[in-house]
Amino acid sequence: MKLLVTGGAGFIGSNFVHYLLKTHPEDEVTVLDDLTYAGNLENLKVVEENAHFRFVKGNINDIELVETLVAECDIIVHFAAESHVDRSIIDPGVFVLTNVHGTYVLLEAARKHNKRFHHVSTDEVFGALGTADAPFDESTAYDPRSPYSASKAASDHLVRAYFHTYGLPITISNCSNNYGPYHFPEKLIPLAITNLLEGKSVPVYGDGLQVRDWLYVEDHCRAIDLIIHQGKLGETYCIGGNAEKENIWIVKKLLALLGKDESSIEYVKDRAGHDRRYAINYSKIERELGWRPEVTLEEGLTKTVAWFQENETWWKNVKSGDYQKYYVKQYENR
Ligand code: NAD
Ligand code: TYD
Repeated sequence: MKLLVTGGAGFIGSNFVHYLLKTHPEDEVTVLDDLTYAGNLENLKVVEENAHFRFVKGNINDIELVETLVAECDIIVHFAAESHVDRSIIDPGVFVLTNVHGTYVLLEAARKHNKRFHHVSTDEVFGALGTADAPFDESTAYDPRSPYSASKAASDHLVRAYFHTYGLPITISNCSNNYGPYHFPEKLIPLAITNLLEGKSVPVYGDGLQVRDWLYVEDHCRAIDLIIHQGKLGETYCIGGNAEKENIWIVKKLLALLGKDESSIEYVKDRAGHDRRYAINYSKIERELGWRPEVTLEEGLTKTVAWFQENETWWKNVKSGDYQKYYVKQYENR
């Protein structure tokens, strides 16, 4: 199979490319990625010599380039996006451009060449849960509340519209918060680990009692692999990690794994419109495709901390440059 993987130089996309070339060595993978601040060719270093791998630098809004690449592939697996909620609060425009318009450009090319399309999305499109609410599932109504989740919701609706209107062979997955190797250190877990390794504190937003469901990235990649091979066209699958935890629990766990005490916690002003809780009921993909998360949170966090300890050059390079500029801007906004 020939796959076009958009956003393959980012966190989840690069893990997916590694997973794919390991589990399906006969497949041919083209990554299309514009190498924004979040894209990093270092993430693809382990596959760069693989004859079944090709990297193309380009924007998913480049219609001509997208058409050429789509014509050559069997399936598009669409990860490319602006993915960070805090950035979407500071600068929503690029989220609309990439996540909504970029998805439209890919869908049009897929329609023209009648190609299979898998759209990678988030549980954040469903909004926020109260403590006693049942977890999100495929029937939950959309209620996005941040510019990021609104842009992802819009893209999900477009993808579904192309199925109903044009019969485009699509699937969608909505997953919970991923973590693992190559995670960009602006998100909670890699930010906390790298700050602690640098002897800095960890910023905890508000009271730290917000809840996220944590999914080890390799479990997510395995789920996408199953959906693209065995998923039913037109369907959506919710993917969760069975690991709901308050943010402060995660931070304290990382402190313990890194031998630090609670003086490294810094409570800071809350995020605007901060969603209180996300949780996923993944029984559909479990029932229909036999998937369930295999890596426990304990195991996943231990592996992730070890990866960051062993890959200091990777995160130190990432944390220089643009990253610093963003943090200055974010702190000015507080
Ligand atoms: P990421 O920010 O780490 O990577 C995004 C990648 O997309 C980068 O390599 C970037 O260069 C590329 N990109 C951005 N704009 C582009 C454009 N216009 N053209 C081409 N390439 C572009 O993101 P991630 O965390 O790996 O997330 C991947 C996908 O999974 C996203 O669609 C995101 O919404 C979704 N998702 C992520 C999570 C999570 O916890 N990280 C959870 C649920 C869903
Ligand atoms: P994040 O990793 O940005 O993912 P998302 O907002 O998509 O869930 O944040 C995870 C949770 O951690 C979220 O409730 C916000 C919180 N958070 C902090 O408390 N401090 C931080 O420095 C960051 C980045 C996030």
